[in-house]
Order: sequence, then structure tokens, then C-alpha cells
Amino acid sequence: MFYVPENRDPSLPHDPIKAIVAPRPIGWISTISKDGIANLAPYSFFNAVGGRPPMLMFASEGFKDSARNAADTGEFVFNYASKSLSEQMNNSSSNAPWGVSEFDHYNIEKADSKIIAAPRVAEANAAMECKVTSVIETNDVEGNLTGAVIIIGQVVGVHIRDEVIRDGRFDVNLAEPVSRLGYMDFGLTSELHEMLRPEFKG
Ligand SMILES: Cc1cc2nc3c(=O)[nH]c(=O)nc-3n(C[C@H](O)[C@H](O)[C@H](O)COP(=O)(O)O)c2cc1C
Repeated sequence: MFYVPENRDPSLPHDPIKAIVAPRPIGWISTISKDGIANLAPYSFFNAVGGRPPMLMFASEGFKDSARNAADTGEFVFNYASKSLSEQMNNSSSNAPWGVSEFDHYNIEKADSKIIAAPRVAEANAAMECKVTSVIETNDVEGNLTGAVIIIGQVVGVHIRDEVIRDGRFDVNLAEPVSRLGYMDFGLTSELHEMLRPEFKG
């Protein structure tokens, strides 16, 4: 099968692209508005995009509250979405109107960040405080704005719950990340295997 995205094959009633690019990590993004209202929402157009310095990005289909706040205040927090918090994470994706804090509405406990003003999810296994470095409004191939915006931030502070550190490592089996698959599906990481990177032998 081959098709161009604007003319999807009729045997595929739902767009499979997000199911092909899967699993995706979930950035559970907390921000604070200029008026001081805390906001929380999941983003699976999310990833780490650099190591030195550590950089994270999320992409918003339109200037949703998280992107608006991050662009306005220059800050956001990545919170770790784990199996135990998956319902709260999903609840926080509701279309709560501007000015309603998902933290308060869904009884998700907040904790203060150390360096930035945006709060974090108190029970998250990890959280990373970020300062915004780029706000990129994307263009399509014709050069027209798509309406989507990519927010990139540099990690300026890292929180990890002591309970998920084992033998000096952040232990994925203990932290139980939830990932986004396609359609309405989510994944759990249940099996790990290690591979060492080979030395090139000419
Ligand atoms: C697991 C999950 C991942 C999501 N990923 C994205 C995403 O990458 N980009 C996006 O624009 N919306 C995404 N959404 C939808 C937003 O979370 C939703 O529109 C939310 O209301 C935005 O909240 P905000 O306006 O407070 O930022 C996702 C929803 C879920 C449940």
C-alpha cells in the first residue's frame, strides 16, 4: 500500500501515522500562566532532543494553553507519566477552559519547582524543570504556517523519586512509564534487553 497523506487509502478510516511512529514517550507538561494559574496536559509529540545540555521539546497542534504559557513565561516542566498516574494524566488532557487548573480540577497534587515558577506533579517519578530556548511555528512544504508550534527547552533541574533508583540507575521497571501508541492505545514497558554498542572492525 502507498498513499499521500492528503488522500489516505479508504481502507484506513483512521490515520495510522501515530500508530506507526510509536511508542512515543509522553511529556506531561506543567506550566503557569502569566496570571499565575497552573496548567497540566500530556503531549506525545514530545522527546529529548539533546544531551549536552539536555534539551526537551513538545509540539502543540495550535497554541494550546501549555504552549501559550511556555511561550509567555519561558518555562515548562516535564513530568513523568507512569502506570500509577495514567488516569490522572489522561484526565488532564480534557479541554478544560482557559483559566481552569487541571491540577485543582482533577485533584492532582502539585509540588513547587526549585528553579522555575511552574509547579510540578508531586507524585511523578521524575520531573525536569525547563527554560524555553526556542518557539518554532512550523511551515508546510508550501511555506504556509501549519498552526502547530514546537517548544524547545533546556533542562535546568532534575527531580527523581528515590524509590525508582536502583544500583545507581533510574530503573524503568520500577518507574513504569506509560507510552502513547496510535489511536486511543497506550503501552507499558514490560521487557528490557541490553545491547552494547559494537566497536567498528574494518
Ligand atoms: C496521551 C496524550 C498525548 C497527547 N499529545 C498531544 C500532542 O503531542 N500535541 C497536542 O497538541 N495535543 C496532544 N494531546 C491533546 C492535549 O493533551 C489536549 O488538547 C489538552 O487539552 C491540551 O491542554 P492545554 O490546552 O492545557 O495545553 C494529547 C493527549 C493525550 C491524552
